Amino acid sequence: MKINIAIDGPSAAGKSTIAKLLAKKLNYSHLDTGAMYRCVAYKVLNMGIQIDDEPKIIDVIKNTDIELRPDGTIYLDGQQVTNEIRTNEVSMGASDVSKLEQVRKELVHRQQEMAKSKGVIMDGRDIGTVVLKDAEVKIFLTASAEARALRRHKENLEKGLESNLEELTKEIEARDYQDSHREHSPLKKADDGIEVDTSNLSIDEVVTKIDEIIQSKL
Ligand code: C5P
Repeated sequence: MKINIAIDGPSAAGKSTIAKLLAKKLNYSHLDTGAMYRCVAYKVLNMGIQIDDEPKIIDVIKNTDIELRPDGTIYLDGQQVTNEIRTNEVSMGASDVSKLEQVRKELVHRQQEMAKSKGVIMDGRDIGTVVLKDAEVKIFLTASAEARALRRHKENLEKGLESNLEELTKEIEARDYQDSHREHSPLKKADDGIEVDTSNLSIDEVVTKIDEIIQSKL
């Protein structure tokens, strides 16, 4: 029997990397919900719409197609935006649009539809607390801000993206603060979530640890 797995945590804690590897191992599908908020921010910024203009943004979302392909590529209205949505500007924009209640409502609905058939590993900020409240396994992935900034920095360089460690650290801290203090669905560990601190663990060690938690629930 397949179950649903929720992975939440602050920015750059390794959620997507870990979720992707676990999905491969378990033959589950991985859904990166942050990419959906990023797509909305990217589109809204490109259209020159104010990032807090909720009615206009909702109109835009209703006519927006977001496709998260199994190979990890992301398509926005049929166009590939996998790397374009990873800039600092879009990261902060995603955090801004994600504060809006109606934006969350629309995206959460889409996410719940995608998880209906089970066998999904979904990562984000509110998966265990809101989107998949009944997920059989809920992980809260954390790491120190320094460790997270350094990881994202290395990842950017590997992808050939521009990266400035100091700017990245500030952006991550600002986004964490905003995501944890917003009114609607703030980032927090679900009461029945299991915290895994990855500061001193390798990717393989984290995958093994979470896999053990999952196996104990099957
Ligand atoms: O996970 P990622 O860093 O790509 O997410 C970008 C932003 O989208 C986060 O900083 C957060 O504000 C927002 N987000 C959210 N709820 C989710 C996933 C992401 O509010 N489930």
